[in-house]
Amino acid sequence: MNPYTWLWPYVKPYRWRLLLGFAIVVVTSLTALINPYLTGQLVEQVIVARRLEHLWLLISVMFSVTIFRMSMRYGMVMIFESVSQNVILNIRMKVYERLQAFDFPFFDKTKTGDIMARMTGDMDFVRHFVSWVDYNTFEQACVFTFSLVFLGFVNFYYTLCLIALTPLIGFFAVKLAIDVKPTFAALREQFSRVNSAAQENIAGHRVVRAFTRENHETEKFLKENAAYKRKALDSAGVWAKYIPVLETLSSSMMVIQLFVGGLFVIKEWLTLGDYFIFNSLIWALNNPLRMAGWLVNDIERFQASAEKIIAMYDTPYTIKNPDQPVKLDAIQGNVEFRNVTFSYGDEPVLNNISFRVTPGMKVGIIGPTGSGKTSLVRLLCRFYDCQQGSVLIDGVDVRQFDVQFLRSNVGIAMQDVFLHSDTIEGNIAFGIPDVPMENVIEAAKLADVESFVHNLEQGYDTIIGERGVGLSGGQKQRVALARLLLKNPPIMILDDTTSNVDVETERHIFESLKTYTHRKTMFVIAHRVVSVMDADVIFVLQNGEIVERGTHHELLARNGYYHTLWQHQRSTGIHGVSPHHLAAQAVKSKQFNAKGTNVARDTNG
Ligand SMILES: Nc1ncnc2c1ncn2[C@@H]1O[C@H](COP(=O)(O)OP(=O)(O)O)[C@@H](O)[C@H]1O
Ligand SMILES: [Mg+2]
Repeated sequence: MNPYTWLWPYVKPYRWRLLLGFAIVVVTSLTALINPYLTGQLVEQVIVARRLEHLWLLISVMFSVTIFRMSMRYGMVMIFESVSQNVILNIRMKVYERLQAFDFPFFDKTKTGDIMARMTGDMDFVRHFVSWVDYNTFEQACVFTFSLVFLGFVNFYYTLCLIALTPLIGFFAVKLAIDVKPTFAALREQFSRVNSAAQENIAGHRVVRAFTRENHETEKFLKENAAYKRKALDSAGVWAKYIPVLETLSSSMMVIQLFVGGLFVIKEWLTLGDYFIFNSLIWALNNPLRMAGWLVNDIERFQASAEKIIAMYDTPYTIKNPDQPVKLDAIQGNVEFRNVTFSYGDEPVLNNISFRVTPGMKVGIIGPTGSGKTSLVRLLCRFYDCQQGSVLIDGVDVRQFDVQFLRSNVGIAMQDVFLHSDTIEGNIAFGIPDVPMENVIEAAKLADVESFVHNLEQGYDTIIGERGVGLSGGQKQRVALARLLLKNPPIMILDDTTSNVDVETERHIFESLKTYTHRKTMFVIAHRVVSVMDADVIFVLQNGEIVERGTHHELLARNGYYHTLWQHQRSTGIHGVSPHHLAAQAVKSKQFNAKGTNVARDTNG
């Protein structure tokens, strides 16, 4: 999209105000002619005619014109400023809204630094265009044209001599525009890189310190920074080459004015008064030509920035809302994967996955890192769409639901916990405004947040830093779990949510969850067998395939990966409990499973 057609809808609501602004520009440009004309009159009627009585009248008129022109210009500048601020407010809002709609694949590919560059520096070039560049370009054009016509009437041939160099100036201005454009695009690109380098360093400062990579990081930043300097100099090199040429050409006008003007007066082709009119209006011809280079520069900057914003704005997204979403009153919690194959790029991450679970089932998912556990549950929330097969909830393909409806019914506590810089209460109640405090506390108790909140001086009002700084890994996970429990969706996903929580606490959490999550479908991804051993069905995932499925005991009997893992974790004490305790636990879980056998189950895939 062209930057101007893109900008127009944002400017359109203010078109009348802008039109008024441009009308004032016309008026002030016209009034710019009055004083030079009166100067000519002053020379003719007062100095040449030696009549002092006209002096005061002329001076007071000139003074009033100046005051009038100044106040009009003040009003005009305010109009353009306020319109530009409104326009940029709306653009920022729109781009921000668009950011909310972008999906995981977009954020996988786009760096935070890039987005920040679009939202700050690039936006400012757009604002500068609306607030300054547009009216200045118009004003210079008006002033130039009006004075040209006016001076043409005063003395046609003299005017012609003065503007003899204009085509040459135009030629160089266009050449500047063509040459400088790519350098601005490169400069904005590099600015994004500098931004990204800084952003990544700040976000990853702990790792940098831990690995004492400060020097390396500084060097990396220096490289980007130096590249920015080089590109800025490249860009400056282009306009620094043209602007002196343009300025020299427009200054030559002064020489022509003095030389040709003197000649015309001597030859009596021009009166002294008219000569003074030219003398005091030469700026009106000269200034626009001198400004041409700078304005071209700013216009190109605007275009480069606008194109970058548009490119981000127009990034197509893959997770689209259906035109006519399927409407269900409530989700029961049936989940089915039907021959699902999925990849982020070329390599398949999930391969022909099929299973079916019914409401109320607890599904354990276990498997090595990178086997596709997280990817599997992401398909359920439609963070990504599978390439083959289908994911169904209550018999409806997830792609047929309204995305917001789907996600409000499928809750996930993600593996990489993200908390906002807010209070603990605010984090638990995220997304549910005006929720009663009792509910927050209930969720907090279930997730065992309550136990450590008690020790905090400000309790639930404790503000945790950005990304949850100030809490331990396990505490953050528990807050994330409480957040999910408060949302209380019919389908719940716990992606490694208790990996940093000690085994005792974890068991306590799962025990208390049992009644709460009754009739809810729950997916629990874990590394520890103890986290999933009481599940109604456990899937063992390896290289994107379900290689084993069944209950704890069925899987143990199979002597496969699950069995080996169980043995290994028991011998290395990862269970965190004594073998004696474990035996008791196994008996308990056997009892649970025996009770749970009446739950409908389909493990045949
Ligand atoms: N956003 C992504 N883009 C590309 N590849 C990814 C992305 N997320 C995960 N992967 C790859 O997909 C595979 C499965 O990852 P994941 O589902 O996170 O495994 P798990 O949760 O079992 O550890 C891994 O090989 C990982 O490198
Ligand atoms: Mg994972």
